[in-house]
Amino acid sequence: MRMYDIIKKKRDNRALDYKEYKFFIDEYVAGRVPDYQAAALLMAIFIRQLSKEETVMLTKCMMESGDCIDLTAIPGVKVDKHSTGGVGDKTSMVLAPLIAAAGIPVAKMSGRGLGHTGGTIDKLESIPGFRTELTTGEFIDSVKRIGVAITGQTGNIAPGDKKLYALRDVTATIDNISLIASSIMSKKLAAGADCILLDVKVGSGAFMKDIKGAEELANTMVLIGNSSGRKTMAVISDMNQPLGNAVGNALEVREAIDTLKGKGPEDFSVLCIELGAAMLVLGEKVKDMEQGRELARHLISSGKAGEKFVRFVENQGGDPRVFENHNEILPKSKEQLEIMAENHGYISGLDAERIGIGAMLLGAGRSRKEDRIDPAVGIVMNKKLGQPVRKGESIATLHINDRENLEQAVQLLRSSITVSERQAANPEIIKRIIE
Ligand code: URA
Repeated sequence: MRMYDIIKKKRDNRALDYKEYKFFIDEYVAGRVPDYQAAALLMAIFIRQLSKEETVMLTKCMMESGDCIDLTAIPGVKVDKHSTGGVGDKTSMVLAPLIAAAGIPVAKMSGRGLGHTGGTIDKLESIPGFRTELTTGEFIDSVKRIGVAITGQTGNIAPGDKKLYALRDVTATIDNISLIASSIMSKKLAAGADCILLDVKVGSGAFMKDIKGAEELANTMVLIGNSSGRKTMAVISDMNQPLGNAVGNALEVREAIDTLKGKGPEDFSVLCIELGAAMLVLGEKVKDMEQGRELARHLISSGKAGEKFVRFVENQGGDPRVFENHNEILPKSKEQLEIMAENHGYISGLDAERIGIGAMLLGAGRSRKEDRIDPAVGIVMNKKLGQPVRKGESIATLHINDRENLEQAVQLLRSSITVSERQAANPEIIKRIIE
């Protein structure tokens, strides 16, 4: 088999078969296919598109290029969850203990943040002592003992995707639905769960800016999951403003804890109940979404999800007092600065991407992989879309430790906020559910 013939075939708009994708991915990972040939094939795929069958085949080959985590030692149906990335997205910290409290084992691998979106691992590390680098043995043993563990990526997961993603980034081939779907799903399938729930974000702070693209991405990923023998569902949710109020690591842990106590912001709480319900359906704890919502609400109001959070934090070396007393235990910034409204009116725009970049400039995120983050800093939105605001009232609070990029962050935050005379509708947090 020759790479030249594979590129030519795709260039001429003919579908490739499994052996050809396998050859491409394995030889590329082994360093025997040069970047220029891989880039040529990527561009041919980008222009000619992949059929559904080809998308499933490419995903499988990328999954097979590295380690696949074996969770069979953990009894029960394992349900995983993945978000396509948003600003202020702290759902895993609520859902993992909530689902575990229902008796569904949660063995979750999470990532760090890059760019305007944060990562669950960075957020959890703001809890003093919390360990995110579990060995495979510790990871499996934790789930068997207490029903839940979250670790940073272990092993060599989907190296074919890792290498191709970096190449796509510099060859203008990122924004193709089949390539995005296969990239995400190759890693999710390799993580070993029996069922997968996808939270596909749509809006200004998301990869997918419009509902049509989000639906197409969600449908493609659901198809890949189901064709690969994993029961998969997707929820499409709004990302036209930050999720909840807090953006920044310790600030988000605080909000996740409040939500587990039933005192979280409305949009975030609704999303957690909806995603929780879908995971309970996938894990066969309930028959339908309505029963799932009911059970998810009960797990919060009864304190069972909170109790599981405490055990989870303790088990991974974190200070469990954080649940009762996050004000004392979590790191706090030295300084706070209010962003005041300049006019009376209604909040009609809160550009999530700019707010995410603003938080990153304060030190809550990374622009490059090697950047260090400050767990204490970030932004808390005091107003959300559609809410009235008076001149001089605070729209957002900046939590600051280092003033180096403060001016730029303030400018960006100000430019992300629009106040209008007329009240705009507050977007529905849940857009679609795809089963
Ligand atoms: N996230 C991924 O993991 N891959 C993509 O291609 C896009 C977003």
